Amino acid sequence: MGGTNPYIEKAEVEIPTKPYTITVVHPDKTTAKIDVDPAKIPYGVTGLPGSILDLALQNGVDLEHACGGVCACSTCHVIVKEGLDTCNEATEDEEDQLEEAPALTLQSRLGCQCVPNGGKDVVIEIPAVNKNLVKEGH
Ligand code: FES
Repeated sequence: MGGTNPYIEKAEVEIPTKPYTITVVHPDKTTAKIDVDPAKIPYGVTGLPGSILDLALQNGVDLEHACGGVCACSTCHVIVKEGLDTCNEATEDEEDQLEEAPALTLQSRLGCQCVPNGGKDVVIEIPAVNKNLVKEGH
């Protein structure tokens, strides 16, 4: 599943023009580094083009995405520790979904809706409680 959700407000995004990196901190504190090449965006079909989810999935980072990246769940919740000011603003639809996410912080975003513009390197953390409730069978 993937693509866009016709029932939500369209996010205003700025696709990066320069390479940058995303450091992903997993719940077990191991890290992965994604070198983003703007020429390859969109990397895949899940999440907004250039979103953290789009970039993560194509770089071997296993970020949950129960709704297929269309802003209809909150399993792709990430905490943007650095570089949040280079990301698009969250739409009201994204904020509504985020409210469902456990361990919400002021730096929380939906990975499928959060598109950094490449102005700075970005550090994200995947919250420990970020479980895919659908997959877990709850
Ligand atoms: S994958 Fe469902 S909201 Fe991001």
